[in-house]
Amino acid sequence: MDNPVLIAIIPGDGVGGEVMAEALPCLDWARNRGRSLRTRHLPCGADHFLATGETLSEATFTELRDGCDAILFGAVGDPRVPDGRHAEEILLRLRQGLELTVNFRPCHAPLPGAGPDLGIDVFRENTEGAYCLQGTTEPGRAVDLAIHTEPAVRRLLQAAFRHAAAGGRPLTLAHKANVLKHGHGLWMRVFEELCRDHPSVAAGGMHADALLCALVQKPTAFGVIAADNYLGDLISDLCAAYLGGMGVAPSLSWAPHHPFRCSALAEPVHGSAPDIAGKHLANPVGMVLSTALLFRHLGWESEATSLESAVAGALAAGARTRDLGGTLDTATMGKAIRDRLP
Ligand code: NAI
Ligand code: MG
Repeated sequence: MDNPVLIAIIPGDGVGGEVMAEALPCLDWARNRGRSLRTRHLPCGADHFLATGETLSEATFTELRDGCDAILFGAVGDPRVPDGRHAEEILLRLRQGLELTVNFRPCHAPLPGAGPDLGIDVFRENTEGAYCLQGTTEPGRAVDLAIHTEPAVRRLLQAAFRHAAAGGRPLTLAHKANVLKHGHGLWMRVFEELCRDHPSVAAGGMHADALLCALVQKPTAFGVIAADNYLGDLISDLCAAYLGGMGVAPSLSWAPHHPFRCSALAEPVHGSAPDIAGKHLANPVGMVLSTALLFRHLGWESEATSLESAVAGALAAGARTRDLGGTLDTATMGKAIRDRLP
């Protein structure tokens, strides 16, 4: 038998655990179909932090990095930790420490009958830019640095170009190089170089403010969109709104240069949603679709497609949690999806 794939499970805080509970049976389903996988559950999150003072210990991080193949992640953030320190240390440490440069956020079919397929795949740089956590607060003045490095920019753009080329789709770089001359100037230089290397891709840059306007007016006019960390965050949440809201949008982050054994992290786009946590209202669709992205990353294409079809089938049949105007609770929605698995 093959070496099993080892997937670390980090439910996190708030609705993270509630939506994770609907993803875990999908792993069991893949295993029952003969996929060789094991899971390792890690208690990272606010409860663990408040009880022990520990966020992500060096030993846990090392074990994840060198002993696991991928991570399935819920969400972090808890009102009992108002400065969000534990969330920042856990999630940013994972993204940065594992060099998960590429954050892939597919934005395709909206709810059945709600509009045409958006056909957008956002490639967001995931480890640096304005989210590098470097800055100062002084009396009357505050500074947040944005650091962009050529290796990360190049990795992100190469992944976006490869994806656009494989699908025969246009690629747009969102930037503000007109004002952010240094950081986004670097993005433009690398982008123009890769444009020359990929003559088959219809690629162009667009000022991010104009791009957001066009996304609302002509949402189907795009294909692949590449952006830095900050702009990619904003653009992908706007796209999530078109799909039906935060509860339905999936994401996968990976390290294309494969520096460590653990090279991917799947998580829904949404956060821990403290406003609805503990009420069984969370929509598990984003989490389940993130699990499908993880299956595809592992090369389990038929399981990925089956899971995506099961979600589409459940939605087409009218299964809806409250955020989508329905009445199902989290577990019933999860079951409605799994009932459609082969
Ligand atoms: P959020 O995504 O948690 O919530 C935004 C809105 O979307 C809320 O109205 C919420 O009820 C709704 N929502 C989110 N997930 C949903 C789901 N599965 N089903 C139905 N509705 C859902 O973002 P917010 O409120 O800005 O942040 C809350 C906490 O989450 C904060 O502590 C924040 O730092 C953290 N956060 C964590 C992220 C992560 O772990 N990757 C990402 C974004 C925020
Ligand atoms: Mg966001």
